[in-house]
Amino acid sequence: MKRIDLQVNNALLTQEIREKYEEMLKRTSACNRSLEKGDGKGADFLGWVTLPSEIDRALLDDIKLTADKLRHNVEYVVCIGIGGSYLGTRAVIEALSDSFAHLKKDKADDSNVTILYAGNHISEDYLYELVELLKGKKFGLINISKSGTTTEPAIAFRLLKDLMLQQEGKEFAQSHIVAITDERKGALRQLATEEGYKTFVIPDNVGGRFSVLTPVGLLPIAVAGFDIEALVRGAREMSEAVSSDIAAEENISAQYAALRIALLEYGKAIEILANFHPKFHYLGEWWKQLYGESEGKDGKGLFIASVDLTTDLHSMGQWIQDGTRNIFETVVSISEPRHTLAIPQDPKDLDGLNYIAGKRIDEVNKMAEKGTILAHMDGGVPVIRIELPELNEYYIGQLFYFFERAVGISGYLMGVNPFDQPGVEAYKTNMFALLRKPGYEQQTSKIFDRIAKGELDKETH
Ligand code: PA5
Repeated sequence: MKRIDLQVNNALLTQEIREKYEEMLKRTSACNRSLEKGDGKGADFLGWVTLPSEIDRALLDDIKLTADKLRHNVEYVVCIGIGGSYLGTRAVIEALSDSFAHLKKDKADDSNVTILYAGNHISEDYLYELVELLKGKKFGLINISKSGTTTEPAIAFRLLKDLMLQQEGKEFAQSHIVAITDERKGALRQLATEEGYKTFVIPDNVGGRFSVLTPVGLLPIAVAGFDIEALVRGAREMSEAVSSDIAAEENISAQYAALRIALLEYGKAIEILANFHPKFHYLGEWWKQLYGESEGKDGKGLFIASVDLTTDLHSMGQWIQDGTRNIFETVVSISEPRHTLAIPQDPKDLDGLNYIAGKRIDEVNKMAEKGTILAHMDGGVPVIRIELPELNEYYIGQLFYFFERAVGISGYLMGVNPFDQPGVEAYKTNMFALLRKPGYEQQTSKIFDRIAKGELDKETH
């Protein structure tokens, strides 16, 4: 199988890093085995480990049928969700879409559907503008929430469902709203049952940030017109390539996990995911959730950030090259772009670019990438590199699973439970208390006491 490639040598900058890496690599086998045996922390949430090989034909067919119906009947489909119920979908759609698809009317595609997103923040202006856009338009809704109780998507759904009901009526809403949620519990499950919406299930044993290969990601990605079977196939083949049967020295998820934790122990507490393709911006967002929520607990974990290069070389580049030396970088690169475009010759050459005239844009981009990696290494930044042969569903599927498996291993190497996210509750509790949500009376009285005592800067309220 042609595979994404992991290159680690540019990160092994010192003998100490090399030794730590080798030592850590030996420890990965037990961690990887635990993910398969289910004898480690968070074992109730290991459904993602075997998910790609368990997705059945009937489910894929149902997803594709539902997607086709939506994409041919409406102008817009709004995907409502946050965190794991949003980022994987957007990562794939943004990576594979034409950057100007929404402005190109003469799409070769047989559907004119545009995917929009909501419920991933609480911005009044954004929601107002979205409602204004959708007034008088035919749209569908995919409402995604595993818990079914998350505030951000619930607000967006209430607004957009009301608009749809006003514009098209109940029957249309019933056939153009799809809910993706828990099989039994949660407000969204109840609502879907009562209103008669089409539903898909997020398995109990798959946590939000590992759910992109469930209907959470597969339905919207299919609506956008992409090949979900290739995505799943890529993930399935990667799941075989990084299983515990594969020796750590040959296992790219084990290597990535081991190296990250070795670098953390060496004092590199920040990992920056860098891409040289703006289409990968949301891959970075998905990756940040996967690693941030999985590792950042019990006072442990790498701080993770992402940059889009070369864009951010003109902003963050200075810091990466020369700031506090506690970082390493993971570059995600694509061997062959999807299109070909060369730099034109100019008779006057006033911009001095004729020396690269005739070269492909990607050749220049690749030299920028090489030059950046060397410069960063010279600046004491260990650089890991991941290369995709091409940008397509199959390799993105591989990449998703590679990262998921690696974070399971690295979480166990660090001794945390990579599959919970208790810290996410803290802001919610405060917000509910401040909004005086029924059931939060005690927290409400405490939080207003704290504010009255001046704990919160006056400017904040
Ligand atoms: O990884 C997670 O579990 C979380 O980030 C969730 O994906 C996020 O909070 C959204 O939750 P829900 O799908 O329950 O609305």
